[in-house]
Amino acid sequence: MIATIVGAQLGDEGKGAVVDHYSDGASVTVRYQGGDNAGHTVVNEGVEYKLSLVPSGAVRGKTGVLGNGCVINPRVLFSEIDALQERGLEPDVRVAKRAHVVFPYHRVLDAVEEATKADDDLDAGTTGRGIGPAYEGKAGRHGIRVGDLLDPSVLEHRLEYTVARAEAILKGVYGRSPADIDRDDIDVEGAFDTDALFAEYKSYGARLREAGMVVDSGDFLTERTAAGADILLEGAQGTALDIDHGIYPYVTSSNTTAGNGATGTGLPVTAVGQGAVIGVVKAYLSRVGTGPLPTELDDVTGAKGADADPPATPPGATDETAVATYLRQRGGEYGTVTGRPRRVGWLDMPMLRQAAQTNGFTGLVVNHVDVLAGLKEVRVAHAYDLDGATQTTMPATTERWGDCTPVYRTFDGWADVDWAAVASEGYTALPGPTRTYLEYIAEELSTPLYAVGVGPDRTDTIVRQDPFA
Ligand code: GDP
Ligand code: IMO
Ligand code: MG
Repeated sequence: MIATIVGAQLGDEGKGAVVDHYSDGASVTVRYQGGDNAGHTVVNEGVEYKLSLVPSGAVRGKTGVLGNGCVINPRVLFSEIDALQERGLEPDVRVAKRAHVVFPYHRVLDAVEEATKADDDLDAGTTGRGIGPAYEGKAGRHGIRVGDLLDPSVLEHRLEYTVARAEAILKGVYGRSPADIDRDDIDVEGAFDTDALFAEYKSYGARLREAGMVVDSGDFLTERTAAGADILLEGAQGTALDIDHGIYPYVTSSNTTAGNGATGTGLPVTAVGQGAVIGVVKAYLSRVGTGPLPTELDDVTGAKGADADPPATPPGATDETAVATYLRQRGGEYGTVTGRPRRVGWLDMPMLRQAAQTNGFTGLVVNHVDVLAGLKEVRVAHAYDLDGATQTTMPATTERWGDCTPVYRTFDGWADVDWAAVASEGYTALPGPTRTYLEYIAEELSTPLYAVGVGPDRTDTIVRQDPFA
């Protein structure tokens, strides 16, 4: 049996926590797309793990696979594995030979392109991890794959071409040389040094081989399923960030949606489709990137630091700036590196309807209901008003989406209760208005509610249905 976990919104919905939960019943957890742009959090007994490449089942000691649809920065992968080992875990990670490799020059190009696009408001607010340029290399057929790291003559030959190409683009398209780029977080000079890259990446290939980490992901996973293993696919980012179905161009460069669970792993689409597809929903919206956001509560784009003062009392639904501050503070919605406030907004049902349709959700997990607690009222964009007409789904162009005005439904708020106690008692212990809110979402999406997150810890999830049980 295969279960696929997919973000239903704009990323950071709490997918890591859900994967941690359900991986108890699986033997393998698999990433099918993205790279170290992901940040998936697992909290077990107050101990927090932030995972960017290692699949989240590692915290329970499950085998993790990075499928062919991923882009992998081996520097990041090995430093993450080493750090987890220092913390007492023993991550068993397998990497697909067909997955693409992220090189330092991809990060340079990501940074330079974002800076250039910002002049025209077209920057996506990327994570700066080189994800877009790495997928461009894949689609443009000049990428380097994990399998190539194991064959030094192939690696050297490919690097000579790709490094020269990347430098020519830097100079010819952007008019920059490596020396012009002032970024402390990127090794700019080394990024275009073919010999140094060859030596470093050849050594990653040797480590991957020695550790027995390289697999053909389709073969590996098909053998495991044939032997009766249950497999959990771990989506990264969210449906609205999907390169085809998301808010283009403010998206990531891969298909985040469930269909890629087959293409990005080598598992047959029939096998993935016969399993569960579980949409992870944050009970409000948070956004780290740019672009329109119709239900946004206040505009913090460009804000330099954390919000000044916490609201003294829970604000009313129409006091949007105060609600935004309230949600950010309770939900920890600040950039992990910069401390900058993240954009937040009310739940957007047209976005969720589109996610349910595109992914074919068989179940939902709604997280962060504890964050909304204490508000007198909670709003949801039930539909949009677009040029005077009511629309219940997302327009296909992001410009038209930006023209949408939310048509809100207002729900009674719920008290801030002892969420740990509620979690141990189960669904019926949730406050009545919380259940009304959750049941509205499930009914609108015609999808059963599999679980509810009332806090970050493993014990803070109320599980009603387990795909592997
Ligand atoms: P992911 O990228 O979808 O895996 O989500 P992240 O880990 O980036 O962000 C989710 C954050 O919320 C993490 O800090 C989690 O520990 C935390 N979290 C997950 N579920 C809940 C929940 O139900 N309530 C609260 N308060 N926090 C949660
Ligand atoms: P997880 O898996 C939230 C956003 C970036 C930017 C756009 C493109 O933790 O949910 P990229 O670096 O991928 O080229 O950036 O996508 N983004 C995310 N937002 N959570 C993520 O991952 C994200 N990964 C990328 O902010 O708008
Ligand atoms: Mg995240």
